[in-house]
Amino acid sequence: MEHVLSKTILISQTIELIAKKYKLSIEEARNRFYQSDVIEMLDDDETGLYGESALYLLSLYENYFKNKCIETKRLLLRKPRIEDAKPMFDNWANDPEVTKYLTWNPHENIEVTKKIIDSWLEEENNPKTFRFMITLKDSGEPIGSIGVVNYIDGDPEIGYCLSRKYWNHGLMTEACKAFVKHLFNKGFNKVLIKAVVENIGSNRVIEKCGFKFTHQERLEHQSSFKPNPVTVNCYELVK
Ligand SMILES: CC(C)(COP(=O)(O)OP(=O)(O)OC[C@H]1O[C@@H](n2cnc3c(N)ncnc32)[C@H](O)[C@@H]1OP(=O)(O)O)[C@@H](O)C(=O)NCCC(=O)NCCS
Repeated sequence: MEHVLSKTILISQTIELIAKKYKLSIEEARNRFYQSDVIEMLDDDETGLYGESALYLLSLYENYFKNKCIETKRLLLRKPRIEDAKPMFDNWANDPEVTKYLTWNPHENIEVTKKIIDSWLEEENNPKTFRFMITLKDSGEPIGSIGVVNYIDGDPEIGYCLSRKYWNHGLMTEACKAFVKHLFNKGFNKVLIKAVVENIGSNRVIEKCGFKFTHQERLEHQSSFKPNPVTVNCYELVK
């Protein structure tokens, strides 16, 4: 009981430090802190090492954001977690409009979403895995995802999707530009992206991010789940 109480105090002290240092409201600082993996570290910690002081937790928090997140003006891109299953299912994975031009079909229930996130978590330690949840910086709400979906001759190909209620506010352009920069920083010199010709929004995002159109591909089937033929525009962006 005493341990739980001291942990609670320590967490609120850390949140206050974050708010002060980064000039955020307490609520915003709390959202950001809870989006980091420091809470998980505290929960798993049996040595009491992490619970030493709020300053120590602040340094763990800062380290997390520096190494594992991508921050933009309005967004925080962070690693997926199993708790994302509900917002992911509710916000975009169950929406046929979102999956219309994607290779997969809308998830029938949240169990499907959980399985997908589980498989993502298993791949997290693979150095070729680059996958982020797109969250709103202010509220912490997960609203989409972006990642490397394929490698072609060693070059990463990007894929993304966003909850329909946030479309057309420039959010994916903001996320994609930052993600491309992240991949360039990781040592890649060329990134690729494809969009179905009819997917006007995505082709526009790609254009706004500065990609160059290279060619079109005609696919007999959109994917193994979708038998219809499609034509995709293929683009590249060189560092
Ligand atoms: C494609 C998608 C990611 C775009 O995200 P977004 O945050 O809405 O993108 P942005 O707001 O940054 O840019 C969208 C652009 O497309 C334009 N646009 C969208 N639909 C349009 C339409 N039907 N006609 C003309 N322009 C359209 C918007 O006006 C905007 O351009 P602008 O900034 O010049 O006005 C989002 O619609 C989505 O998740 N779709 C479903 C998943 C998907 O298709 N993923 C891509 C697979 S390649």
